[in-house]
Amino acid sequence: MADLDQKPKVGASRRDFLRGSGIAAATAVITGPAVASLDEAKAAEPEYKVVADTVTLKLQVNGKELSTEIEPRCTLLDTLRNRLDVTGPKRVCDRASCGACTVIIDGATVYSCTTLAIACQGKKVETVESFDTGPTGVPHAFVQHDGLMCGYCTPGFVTACKSLLDRNPNPTLDEVRKGVDGNICRCGTYIGVLEAALAAAKAMKGA
Ligand code: FES
Ligand code: FES
Repeated sequence: MADLDQKPKVGASRRDFLRGSGIAAATAVITGPAVASLDEAKAAEPEYKVVADTVTLKLQVNGKELSTEIEPRCTLLDTLRNRLDVTGPKRVCDRASCGACTVIIDGATVYSCTTLAIACQGKKVETVESFDTGPTGVPHAFVQHDGLMCGYCTPGFVTACKSLLDRNPNPTLDEVRKGVDGNICRCGTYIGVLEAALAAAKAMKGA
């Protein structure tokens, strides 16, 4: 009677064959001329230095000189919110698509969620906290014209409008549209935002 538990002594299973040929193929890939070219490529690579420690950062935010310790990889948004207690810019998408984190750097609107804080040293950073909240300011116009609902996107819109009016105090409706085209409001307050920007421009002229 045949012993069913006995393993075959000769030949090789398909699994053995595949395992063997896989090892042979891998060996072929990493031997001979391939090793030489890998070594050459490695030698040609620039040497990267990983800075794992913190650095001292000095930033000019809303007219004040602020200083903190951060890892060099920190974004401006993280640094403002978590280190410097400047929480006007909001984190929503965290990937440069919604505009909630918008700040003004040297007069230009910038997504702070994808800007390195260390790249902003020596530059003038402005956030919504520094804007005039009186009757001729952009925040007031947003309230008057229902430019906000949930409010997450609002600081970004206010900042984009302020930046636009700083550069162009007399914008057309199309110019306002273009000025806020990097910002998204999921609640659909766009009509109010556009009206607010035009109203703020008018109020500033009369001030
Ligand atoms: S949080 Fe920066 S663009 Fe959305
Ligand atoms: S008010 Fe802008 S997303 Fe709601």
